Amino acid sequence: MYIVETQQELRSKINEYKQQQLTIGLVPTMGALHEGHLTLIKKCLSENDITVVSIFVNPTQFNNAEDLIKYPRNLAKDAQLLEQVGVDIVFAPSTEEMYDAEELNSRFAFDFNGLDTVMEGAMRPGHFNGVVQIVSRLFHLVTPNKAYFGEKDFQQLAIIRHMTYHSSMSSTFDNLTIVGCPIVRETSGLALSSRNERLSEQQKNIATNIYKTLNLSKDWANTCSVKEVEQKVIHTINSIEGLDVEYYCIVDKDSLQATNTFHNAIGCITVYCGDVRLIDNIQY
Ligand code: PAF
Repeated sequence: MYIVETQQELRSKINEYKQQQLTIGLVPTMGALHEGHLTLIKKCLSENDITVVSIFVNPTQFNNAEDLIKYPRNLAKDAQLLEQVGVDIVFAPSTEEMYDAEELNSRFAFDFNGLDTVMEGAMRPGHFNGVVQIVSRLFHLVTPNKAYFGEKDFQQLAIIRHMTYHSSMSSTFDNLTIVGCPIVRETSGLALSSRNERLSEQQKNIATNIYKTLNLSKDWANTCSVKEVEQKVIHTINSIEGLDVEYYCIVDKDSLQATNTFHNAIGCITVYCGDVRLIDNIQY
């Protein structure tokens, strides 16, 4: 396995693979890898000749400086794990390698057709611009045939699909398929996330109530309206000490806009457990 830190080295490796007509899969990550990432990586390994995993805690997608500082990082442990599963290249650049000062500070304004004005986009201004800034850069560098993203970040996946297939940038991503992979959960139901590393055992226990409540909400959907289900979910989770809902929105799976029917609907939630921000979702 190669650990590559520069764009130039990455490009030259990719050129070698392309000359050999090998297919390339990309799994973009911010490290602190867990089973959820490994599921994406194993799928990528099984569907492509070459698997590239990027590890880069992208500063431009953090709208909260504290969150960026506290984001877990462990490149040595991640690299060991990736070597064991048979990844070909780990791309782990520094911030300076990826961005010059202007790129780091300028705020892009991509057009996401309204996908970014709700939920995470509304709560974290600039977040999706930063995600698209780094993901489009990685796509141009790696020119993958397939790129893999988790459905836990459902809104991110929708925006990346939009960028790849429907935006003004789409023509530069010829023959690229975006592959979405289902949420991986602990046996307790808690959705796997790098941020879980920051939860105490007691908090982890409390946080299992998020998925329990989302599951219950599917039953409530048989007798209640969308608005009533949203309110019941928020009320139930907020009544558990240690949990604080930021938003729970039931939206159309394609447009991500509010809906008043459970048909093609997904419920997306963000909950603070202490100072750790957890997200999850459930499809109705
Ligand atoms: O989902 C993530 O970990 C990040 O948003 C991504 C896609 C790696 C971009 O930094």
